[in-house]
Amino acid sequence: MSETYEFRGNLETKPVINDSTVTILVGAQWGDEGKGKWVDILGNRSHFSVRYQGGNNAGHTLYIDGKKVVLHQIPSGVFHPGNISVLSCGVVINPVALVKEMAEVKTLAEVHPSRIWISSRAHVITPWHMECDSLQESQAEVPIGTTKRGIGPAYSDKASRTSLRMEDYIHPEARSKWLERMASSNPSFALHLAKEEHAWSEFNKAAALLKDYVCEAEFRLRYAASLGKEILLEGAQGTLLDINHGTYPFVTSSNTTAGGAIGNLGISHRSVKHVIGIAKAYVTRVGGGPFPTELLDETGEILCEKGREFGATTGRKRRCGWFDAVAMRYSVEVNGMDGMYLNKMDILAGIPQVKICVAYDHPRLGRVTHFPSDLKVLAEMTPVYESFPGWKSDIKTKGSISDLPVEARKFIARIEELCGVPVLKIGTGPGREDFLLRS
Ligand code: GDP
Ligand code: IMO
Ligand code: MG
Repeated sequence: MSETYEFRGNLETKPVINDSTVTILVGAQWGDEGKGKWVDILGNRSHFSVRYQGGNNAGHTLYIDGKKVVLHQIPSGVFHPGNISVLSCGVVINPVALVKEMAEVKTLAEVHPSRIWISSRAHVITPWHMECDSLQESQAEVPIGTTKRGIGPAYSDKASRTSLRMEDYIHPEARSKWLERMASSNPSFALHLAKEEHAWSEFNKAAALLKDYVCEAEFRLRYAASLGKEILLEGAQGTLLDINHGTYPFVTSSNTTAGGAIGNLGISHRSVKHVIGIAKAYVTRVGGGPFPTELLDETGEILCEKGREFGATTGRKRRCGWFDAVAMRYSVEVNGMDGMYLNKMDILAGIPQVKICVAYDHPRLGRVTHFPSDLKVLAEMTPVYESFPGWKSDIKTKGSISDLPVEARKFIARIEELCGVPVLKIGTGPGREDFLLRS
């Protein structure tokens, strides 16, 4: 693509704020809702796909020409030649893992600085952060169950204002100065630097390989928005893992929600056209923390096995449970969602009776329909379910939502009623063409 998106105006011109070119695809539950699949599908019609938070804790699964690809840092629009992939401000970058991912992607997509932009404002995950993450987890009384990718420690350093930004990482002198400063102020860091020579040497080597990709990505994106270019923002993790609005401390260390996307990127809220929540027709969670609708019985096992619910990053078994409309309604409100895409309806096929959690019962508070901030309270909730007859046969994988068996349509209609937003698309399989549209 020849367009560089460098701002060509001057201060006499109107500010580069434009209306309605941005669509935010946000994880509506506890992650792994199928965000990557939808960014890949919609990437065909957009000019940019942009990650706005998280790091290589994410695992987004796509099927390109029948080949399974798991992306951790590169946005999922990368396989469309007309789409520029942006790792923007708000993301934490593991440079060594990114170089490896670029090499893997190279067999299926063009990997070039005109196609992949890395924000100079993004912060760097170092080998030290991964060590700290593992150590914190092993020493914690109640571990969070992190991915051990160094995410929490990297964001902690960012907030402490001691972290390394891509801007400095790619310049050998600035990087050396930062390493010296860290080593002289922190003996454990100095020891790690001396001991883990190989990891640090790989870390330093990756800088030269990424240098050409680093740019003022947010600046360019604002300009692209002003030109009316379509921008897809790809969430990582999910709303209930948001550091503010999730089930703290069993959360990730970034702002996963739609508001977080705008803040991280420095785009105008006026450029947002749609906020779409990506959800599953049931719920999964990896790692620790309360999960009111978790199924610890045979049905939970069936969902896990049939839905192949194993982490795309760590391979861990995902905890499975029924669709939680209380949590989803909360997610709709926190994100200002316009609608949702509901994945994995195919996985529920064949289950004789399916359920939706419509409220919680609490020993002290009675019946509630709001998602509480107090984790102890959340852990004490008993879900109140409405049951629905299941749909026996496998569902059609393409076409219209109206083609679904009546039982499945009733299930969807109740979700819409409880959550207050329409179900705009239905996922019926992992492939690019496996979805149903609203007629
Ligand atoms: P992400 O992190 O939100 O992108 O989601 P993951 O890739 O971690 O997990 C979603 C999993 O479900 C992946 O294995 C997808 O291939 C798969 N998937 C997505 N949508 C559907 C669907 O509608 N039906 C089925 N059967 N699988 C789906
Ligand atoms: P995608 O983008 C599901 C979970 C971890 C842990 C918590 C904190 O694929 O949906 P972290 O390593 O971020 O400090 O771990 O967050 N977690 C995810 N769960 N999907 C993800 O990403 C996740 N990324 C982190 O399991 O509970
Ligand atoms: Mg995932």
